Amino acid sequence: MASAKLKYLSLGVLVFQTTSLVLTMRYSRTLQGDGPRYLASSAVVVAEFLKILTCVGLVFKDHSYSGRALSSILRQEILHKPIETLKLAIPSGIYTLQNNLLYVALSNLDAATYQVTYQLKILTTALFSVSMLGRRLGVYQWLSLLILMAGVALVQWPADSPSDPQKEQLTAGSQFVGLVAVLVACCSSGFAGVYFEKILKETKQSVWVRNIQLGMFGLVFGIFGMLAYDGDRIQQHGMFQGYNMLTWIVVALQALGGLVIAAVIKYADNILKGFATSLSIILSTLISYFWLEDFEPTR
Ligand code: C5P
Repeated sequence: MASAKLKYLSLGVLVFQTTSLVLTMRYSRTLQGDGPRYLASSAVVVAEFLKILTCVGLVFKDHSYSGRALSSILRQEILHKPIETLKLAIPSGIYTLQNNLLYVALSNLDAATYQVTYQLKILTTALFSVSMLGRRLGVYQWLSLLILMAGVALVQWPADSPSDPQKEQLTAGSQFVGLVAVLVACCSSGFAGVYFEKILKETKQSVWVRNIQLGMFGLVFGIFGMLAYDGDRIQQHGMFQGYNMLTWIVVALQALGGLVIAAVIKYADNILKGFATSLSIILSTLISYFWLEDFEPTR
């Protein structure tokens, strides 16, 4: 009973989180600031750090706010179980690769084509759930996944405007690179999500301990990425250049995303996660149209 409640609560929070993240990011991009823009690589690191900190707080709460119990759990479950901890390096490394692939995809494809193609992850997730978790899906379930994928793809379908200058600049070669990147990202999203689900559901450790393990690797990979991409800029203007109130909101929402996705994977599953994020794509499109008035639906 409690777990059914948690299932719908986590799915509801995921819809809220994804919708507000998209809208805040969109709003922060249209806002004209005067200083340098914040570094995306730095935002990733800060979000990862916030996520670990919150998970440590949740483990602390689960152990009646005892500092001694907290440090003993962290030592026992993380330091003294290096193999269990190392298992999380796999999804963490794949997520890091995926986040970079999506960057490659967005640099070579227009945003709408990217969004439409990325919906294929709904199907890859279902395929990995069947092959790795032995889940069985009936004809109607496969059919609803296909309809969901087609529906979300249609909502995002690019308007057919021949005079779109952005589109003309994209050569066939770069479109191919973008397409390959997004297709690999669809596979990695499905695999990493289902791998994390398998670890959560087949072992006894708490979801928050698992998330700390995942986040630790994410933090290390993120710091490497940040120094490799933006090392020079950080030396000049620091890691927090261009941060404002909105940046902190985006970072906090991103950190919340990691926590909620973990809860959704634990209490529901990756397939339901796909439904929740699709619902939020439709919601943010509607809000964007009615409130921000910046979306023109195609006919
Ligand atoms: O597109 P997809 O649903 O695969 O994206 C999942 C995102 O959630 C990734 O960016 C990943 O870094 C993040 N994540 C997380 N914590 C988890 C699981 C996923 O931060 N436990």
